[in-house]
Amino acid sequence: MKGWPFVPEQASTVASKVDDLYLFLMIISIFFGVLIAGLVTYFFIRYRRRPDDKAPPHIHGSLLLELTWSVIPLVIVVGVFFWSAKVFFEIHHVPDDAMQVYVVGKRWMWKVQHVSGQREINELHVPVGLPVKLTLTSEDVIHSFYVPAFRIKRDAIPGRYTTIWFEATKPGRYHLFCAEYCGTKHSGMIGWVEVMEPHAFQNWLAGGASTQSPAAAGEKLFRELACVTCHRADTGARGPDLAGVAGRDVALADGTQVRADENYLRESIVNPTARIVAGYQPVMPTFQGVVNEEQLMQLVAYIQSLPIRPRPDPSAEPLGGTQETKGVAQP
Ligand code: CUA
Repeated sequence: MKGWPFVPEQASTVASKVDDLYLFLMIISIFFGVLIAGLVTYFFIRYRRRPDDKAPPHIHGSLLLELTWSVIPLVIVVGVFFWSAKVFFEIHHVPDDAMQVYVVGKRWMWKVQHVSGQREINELHVPVGLPVKLTLTSEDVIHSFYVPAFRIKRDAIPGRYTTIWFEATKPGRYHLFCAEYCGTKHSGMIGWVEVMEPHAFQNWLAGGASTQSPAAAGEKLFRELACVTCHRADTGARGPDLAGVAGRDVALADGTQVRADENYLRESIVNPTARIVAGYQPVMPTFQGVVNEEQLMQLVAYIQSLPIRPRPDPSAEPLGGTQETKGVAQP
């Protein structure tokens, strides 16, 4: 489909898969559209009422005919279902080795931060041939991160995290749009995705003002906001120890379990009493309004960076104060 004027360039691993499906749907629709319109016109003329018409003979149903026009469309739509489900899951299942990038939508700009700390606005630099995972959220209203050349589009929603990934297949500059009407300057909420050769990307990362990584900024916030006074490893702590909690299943006070993904971690900061960890009291204040979306992402990035604390070996000689002195693990 490369040469089609109304199809954007294919620049990601999923682009041709989306296009193949789209082309198939289009061919099927045109084929049946023409077939039905043609038959309607033909029957219209062939069976028109003539002046000497008498009542026509009764036509009885044909089982074979009815089965044919039921089974053929059934096979086609079920086939389309499985085909598109496969493409859908591929677009939504983020590979484990993907490079993380944080994106915050805000009227009317895209704020991007890389794991190394590099920040950019309305631009996103990525290397070619490497899966990139975007964690999206919004500071105000719903926006939608849309890169036509990659065939990806994902809403950035206030109050939660959404993720999308892509792997760019050729270097170049590709349009980035906001695809959800978000106010007066919605049409100006556009930018570029710059796909670079890996070495050029490394140079780009190394250059420019180097800022703190999101996890390091999160660690600083964690101390400044005094989170560390309650979230400790010792038994007297008022809040659960957060080391290694990210991605694990956590038992809650109401007997249920929750996977500590980025959305749960975020909720626990802005609405701490929503889902209390088993064994703890709902004493944590909300940090809604205290930290902005970017800082929330930094806190979440910090918590996700904490390694699992090695369990003290019960058979070992107690050395005293192993837990108390450790404090919060470093990323
Ligand atoms: Cu942001 Cu439209």
